Amino acid sequence: MPSRVYSCAVVGLEGVLVEVEVDYSYGLGFINVVGLPNTAVKESRERIRAAIKNLPTSFPRKSLVINLAPANVRKEGPAYDLPMAVGILIIRGEIPSCTVEDMIIVGELSLDGTTRHTPGLLPMAAMARDLGFKTICVPAVDAAEAALIPDLEVLPIRSLFELTQHLIGAQNIEPFQNIAIDELPELETQTDFQEIKGQEHVKRALEVAAAGNHNLLMTGPPGAGKTLLAHSLPGIMPRMSIDEALDVTRIYSILDQLPSETPLLQHRPFRAPHHTISHAGLVGGGTWPQPGEISLAHRGVLFLDEFPEFGRRVLEVLRQPLEDKEVTISRAQGSLTFPANFSLVAAMNPCPCGYYGDPVKVCTCSASTIPRYQKRLSGPLLDRIDIHVDVPRVDFDKLSSDRLGEPSRTVRKRVERARKKQEERLSDSPRGTNGDMIPREVREFCSLDSKCQTLIRSATQQLGLSARAYHRVLKLSRTIADLVGEKDISPIHLAEALQYQPRDQH
Ligand SMILES: Nc1ncnc2c1ncn2[C@@H]1O[C@H](COP(=O)(O)OP(=O)(O)O)[C@@H](O)[C@H]1O
Ligand SMILES: [Mg+2]
Repeated sequence: MPSRVYSCAVVGLEGVLVEVEVDYSYGLGFINVVGLPNTAVKESRERIRAAIKNLPTSFPRKSLVINLAPANVRKEGPAYDLPMAVGILIIRGEIPSCTVEDMIIVGELSLDGTTRHTPGLLPMAAMARDLGFKTICVPAVDAAEAALIPDLEVLPIRSLFELTQHLIGAQNIEPFQNIAIDELPELETQTDFQEIKGQEHVKRALEVAAAGNHNLLMTGPPGAGKTLLAHSLPGIMPRMSIDEALDVTRIYSILDQLPSETPLLQHRPFRAPHHTISHAGLVGGGTWPQPGEISLAHRGVLFLDEFPEFGRRVLEVLRQPLEDKEVTISRAQGSLTFPANFSLVAAMNPCPCGYYGDPVKVCTCSASTIPRYQKRLSGPLLDRIDIHVDVPRVDFDKLSSDRLGEPSRTVRKRVERARKKQEERLSDSPRGTNGDMIPREVREFCSLDSKCQTLIRSATQQLGLSARAYHRVLKLSRTIADLVGEKDISPIHLAEALQYQPRDQH
């Protein structure tokens, strides 16, 4: 009878059950592993051999065959060392097989038999709980991450020896205390609003963007503070709910980008990929598809600095996820969908040299290069950006003043109130924010009285607003009204929304 130990792989963002079967085979002293990529097998075999040699018992002289099933699931990474080693000890009769029946075992081993950090434990633990397993054994360093999943016993394993002792009942391993997520302390925001001097109108635009989940483009000369302002956005967005935080953490866990000692990501992510990023790096991809930057920015901010420098093709692929809030990657093996509900913040200089329109420095660009530079951005993509705002250089007096502005915390409270209003109003819609309203919802919730009608009619003519831009203005007005808790859109709200429209609308 082969021995069987349960373990876990990650496909896309989900854990998948893997069965590790160990049986005797012909010959002496070989371990033959099926169902793992070749290089991984070789290394894994050596680690298991060394780890078992470090136990008080000696390595089996008979040959073994280890099968990792199902075969078509990609099992990369060293997560199977520990379950394979346990399987070997079971077939040798050193551990009773019944002890591992309701257990998932995951973890990489060092040569001396101690466990090492293994990525992806959060989705693995979630799978274990969902399939009704009682216990998950994980490397001790990763126990806090797995313990975020309630109703699952997490055993922190320091070494193969320790696990063996536990399974034979010689020495007990205490389960890791489950972490009550609401008890985790609130973290400081990284870039606080109050440290940004001046730029009141840009801060206001950011507040509107956060309140209604609107995308935003900043244009201004180098050094004006665009990067700083972008960094302050996550801190004024509503705090993530526990489910949102778990969603985000899962993505980072799989890509092994969780900072150590941070089991749960509570800050909204801020991602700023460089403009040389590849298509796959941005939206996700690879033979075994992995999430890209837009998924790492899920529920947070995707900041594209030097916006026109991103290739046209790269920017075009953003259009779909901007609408769908997710990205689907198709491969021969099937397609995978990754979440990508991010707020887009883009920044650009007004011209190639950066100083067009600047009161101090002289722009050195020729008349023809400026429109060509601005044309690099495609109309359809720009049309998906609700807020366009100029970021002029701040004058020295303001920069050097000690006066602190409003802290992020205060702004966030207003944003959270405005979001609540939207959630109530859009309770039937899957998205629940003004920025994501569909045309029917815009008609229903953004009705204008006669004064507003007159205003928008003349503005539409003067600014040459497209139909899409018209909708944008309505959605923005709705958010601006929500920020002050007003039921109806009034001309003041509309006028502010119109300020956020680009001047040279086609
Ligand atoms: N309004 C401001 N208040 C405080 N510091 C500022 C402000 N604007 C710019 N800075 C500082 O000036 C430097 C350049 O700003 P940065 O955000 O990189 O500008 P940009 O991205 O527009 O080129 C940063 O160190 C930033 O902290
Ligand atoms: Mg910058």
